[in-house]
Amino acid sequence: MCGIVGYLGSSSAQPVLFDLLKRLEYRGYDSAGIAIMNESINVFKTKGSVDDLISVTPDLKGCSGIGHTRWATHGKASSENAHPHCCDTDKIAVVHNGIIENYIELREKLINSGHEFRSETDTEVLPHLIEEHYNNDLESTVRHALSMVRGSYALAAISSNDPDKIVVARKDSPLVLGLGETDFFIASDVSGILKYTKNVIFLNDGEIAVISHDGVKITTLSGKTVDKNIETIEWDAKSAEKSGYAHFMLKEIFEQPNVIRETFSGRMSSEGVNLEVAVPDARRIIITACGTSYHAGLFGRYVIERFARIPVNVEIASEFRYINPIVDSNDLVIAITQSGETADTFAAVREVNLEKSQKFSIVNVPGSSITRESNNIFTRAGPEIGVAATKSFTSQLAVLLLLAVQLGRVRKKMSTACVNDFVYELKQISGKIQQVLNEAHHTKECAQVFADSDQFLFMGRGANYPIALEGALKLKEISYIKAEGFPAGELKHGPLALIYDGIPVVAIATEGVAYEKMLGNIKEIKARGAIVIGIANESDTEIKKYVDRVLRIPDANPWISPLLSSVVLQLFAYYVADCRGCEIDKPRNLAKSVTVE
Ligand code: G6P
Repeated sequence: MCGIVGYLGSSSAQPVLFDLLKRLEYRGYDSAGIAIMNESINVFKTKGSVDDLISVTPDLKGCSGIGHTRWATHGKASSENAHPHCCDTDKIAVVHNGIIENYIELREKLINSGHEFRSETDTEVLPHLIEEHYNNDLESTVRHALSMVRGSYALAAISSNDPDKIVVARKDSPLVLGLGETDFFIASDVSGILKYTKNVIFLNDGEIAVISHDGVKITTLSGKTVDKNIETIEWDAKSAEKSGYAHFMLKEIFEQPNVIRETFSGRMSSEGVNLEVAVPDARRIIITACGTSYHAGLFGRYVIERFARIPVNVEIASEFRYINPIVDSNDLVIAITQSGETADTFAAVREVNLEKSQKFSIVNVPGSSITRESNNIFTRAGPEIGVAATKSFTSQLAVLLLLAVQLGRVRKKMSTACVNDFVYELKQISGKIQQVLNEAHHTKECAQVFADSDQFLFMGRGANYPIALEGALKLKEISYIKAEGFPAGELKHGPLALIYDGIPVVAIATEGVAYEKMLGNIKEIKARGAIVIGIANESDTEIKKYVDRVLRIPDANPWISPLLSSVVLQLFAYYVADCRGCEIDKPRNLAKSVTVE
């Protein structure tokens, strides 16, 4: 949510800042702005996208500056509310991601001291506060100003009184510094700066960095020097490019065979599964996550209970603290998150800190906030730019399958033969996903037929139920069609009332224990006029008699076929949205990384 960027170096700052902003645009895209230092500070900002910003900004000279792409929280999307925000004299400019909780009180005090505000944002108190307390040193003034602030922030500040510096600070919002030979980069996440450098420093909460041509100096809020490790990000810079695809989402869907290969790499052997972290034995597992990652968690419940016979609860992270969870040292809490930054998931992990239970995270982004609070299993999906999660989801499912097998083996709930058979099946997944992608034109053709529908239902049973939820979420996120997923067994308890003549229903009817029951459910909805799109295995000759259209997946173990069905549903949502002319990579009102609660 909101992306902040900065650059200080030997090149012109403007093109670098625009490029960084475009790379982080998936964090928010309702307005954007830059401030470039050149004797005085030049600020340009506008409502709309980074492209809109580019079109209203003249050529600006200067080798340092900051920028912001916004997802509005305090104040509507407008050029006044866009960042950077400046003080009265325009000598200080600030970009900020997070929320200043006590901004009303600070704003009133600053207004009483004569400051004039130009926006409705919480952020604007920061440049005024820095101006009010300015002591001829930007770093110590920012430190002083932050001591008066409550809330969360990743911020970058510049001042024309101290023009060769950018001061950045972090508390509960992500911030990473990129180190080139003579250039320094600031970004909300690593995928923004990969093109420029793979050498990064992740700032921790309560740290301030001063970036100048001499290098980077990091201290704590209280002024203690901090020695930080420079980390090298292994991600390929190309993986954050569109590489000829119309949208990042489509590219990321098509990356899945490689992603799953990478997720499994080195984690399976003749002895079974070897995840790099020692997974503690537990009396109970609690999985917590949001959005798509929550759906992966629901799938995790089915496979862990099936293979390892450990009871699993799955909790929406934003509700976790309100449940007042009863967890103790016999419980294992697993957070699942692509970004590693989702505020509610992060808060849930911290809640667990208080309770002293065991925990770890299944996470995609290296160096992200959550990775520093727990042991981690990385999904290795690479940068995911499309707001609608795709490859991160299937890689989460893949990790959960590995985890279930590892736990099953350790707890002696799976025989060696059974583990070996299953590992053999897991090794086939990438190839089978590739087969699904080779047939994408069938899904596209089907999506085009239904693209004008204004409602969809998705149903599945067992481990396909979370996949039905995810199919519905994908469709509503990027096409704005009302879509609901439900377990087929619940039909008679409500969803049947939604069936009318011609409503499209996607039914996941792949091989498994509930197959015949699914056919029964399909009959029930067909009898009431639904048009049914069935997802079925290649060798299923029966299904054609029950449904109007069939989307095929290769024959596969029923615990593995949910990954294949997921890919079909991602393609379906993509092609429907494309047909409706939607902004697929930038869906209305959404952002990829939700860093506010
Ligand atoms: C946002 C994104 C979703 C994502 C969810 C959880 O809502 O738009 O795609 O599933 O956050 O994100 P996480 O990074 O924690 O998996």
